[in-house]
Amino acid sequence: MSQENKALFIIFGGTGDLAKRKLYPSLFRLFRKGNIREHFAVIGTARRQWSNDYFREVVAESVASLNPTKEDLDEFVSHFYYQAHNVDNTEEYQLLGQLADSLDQTYDLNGNRLFYLAMAPRFFGTISQHIKSENIMTEHGFNRLIIEKPFGTDYKTALQLNEEISASFKEEQIFRIDHYLGKEMIQNISAVRFGNNIFESLWNYKYIDNVQVTLAEAVGVEERGGYYDQSGALKDMLQNHILQVVALLAMEAPTVFSEEAIRAEKINALKSIRIYNEEEVKENFVRGQYSAGRLADTEFTSYNEEPGVDPNSQTETFLAGKFLIDNFRWAGVPFYVRTGKRMTEKGTRIHIVFKSTPINIFRDSNDLDSQLPENVLTIYIQPTEGFSLTLNGKEVGDGFNIDPVRLDYRHSQDNLYNSPEAYEKLILDCLKGDATNFTHWDEVANSWKIVDGIKETWEKETTPIPHYPAGSMGPECAFELLEKEGHKWIWEPDAWYKNQGLLD
Ligand code: BG6
Repeated sequence: MSQENKALFIIFGGTGDLAKRKLYPSLFRLFRKGNIREHFAVIGTARRQWSNDYFREVVAESVASLNPTKEDLDEFVSHFYYQAHNVDNTEEYQLLGQLADSLDQTYDLNGNRLFYLAMAPRFFGTISQHIKSENIMTEHGFNRLIIEKPFGTDYKTALQLNEEISASFKEEQIFRIDHYLGKEMIQNISAVRFGNNIFESLWNYKYIDNVQVTLAEAVGVEERGGYYDQSGALKDMLQNHILQVVALLAMEAPTVFSEEAIRAEKINALKSIRIYNEEEVKENFVRGQYSAGRLADTEFTSYNEEPGVDPNSQTETFLAGKFLIDNFRWAGVPFYVRTGKRMTEKGTRIHIVFKSTPINIFRDSNDLDSQLPENVLTIYIQPTEGFSLTLNGKEVGDGFNIDPVRLDYRHSQDNLYNSPEAYEKLILDCLKGDATNFTHWDEVANSWKIVDGIKETWEKETTPIPHYPAGSMGPECAFELLEKEGHKWIWEPDAWYKNQGLLD
């Protein structure tokens, strides 16, 4: 059994989707491993009038797929309490405070409190302010605030939101979730880079030709059309997840592997990303929206027919772009990124494309310019997890032909099954007070500064948004973006489907 942590969790938005899909199952896994066991309690709050019993039933249902024993389940849900709550009503915070104090006593929680705001950001300010003014924070334990994205809609609104929260919580008490940072293979980026001299010594403009980051999703907007239509891929995926991945790939080696040292290097990396003017945005970023499409036997409707989406919407469900990082390590190396909904396959992959050898000594005398295939290091983030490296070798047999081979390592199914889910890891980190895998305000601020220029340029755009058929890997312009620089996307899951006639 792991070491037990003592804490009271107060979950605002306790009846919501995130709580049911992610938070309660994560808490249950932590319970089963002993990270929380006897000395914990959870207060779920939301506007609805639920009883403790009903709340416990909902929690039990949300962890059912984890196959709990009856004994474990009964014990686990007995730690859950529900309190109906209107976030604007001061008196109700006092009731919440009383319940918190009494649970603190009952379960001997040492005054440790974790406030989880699983709600729309417009409520963050008022909730955090009331937590402080109504004394729901304790003096003798820890008080930590976990918040979900989106953190603002641009730099200005993010700053304002941060000021509201910071009036009650200090930066070291604020844990901004980016669930990508809880993923096993995202954390593995640092291991690959800083644990292997064969890579770290080559990790710069001299040896790396380009870097490609793909966060592709096969799903459409599902039931989140209303939210997504206001957000789009830029704010939903690039401002947070993609820029975090780029920062981890681009940062300098920290002197030690500590929260402060890693953070400082990530912030430096983000500060080095070139902020584009309007012309440069047009040159370096493209967007798209999915139209109806077919992949194998499945037909998909277009984005603008999804529930909750404006039929004339110009919101991007796809984007691709090139970042440049203006420092000694990366001068001139393109970092290509792309993300989208309704793409061919779900897959998050990073490709580090190394420069070819200076001369191809195996070339044909009729083709003196021919180059050897580049070495590519691939980091598979999800759904498959692992690494591969392509190398050039000699083709077996007569003559002397070069044949690329791939060294491939994937985590086994057992590893995948046992590996903790992102939210589970992040909640545990927060219990331990480790903010390494959370986003500091300085990171949020710099990410918005990078994104704002792109957002403003697109808002001014008068030509209709380019479309791509659902099931494809994005609009034409996303391929041209690389082609014009003599590059191409390494990952082409659409190629197989096209060859088979399963994708137009
Ligand atoms: C979320 C976005 O942050 O990440 C969603 O809001 C997206 O739109 C999701 O689907 C992707 O996460 P994952 O873990 O499935 O890659």
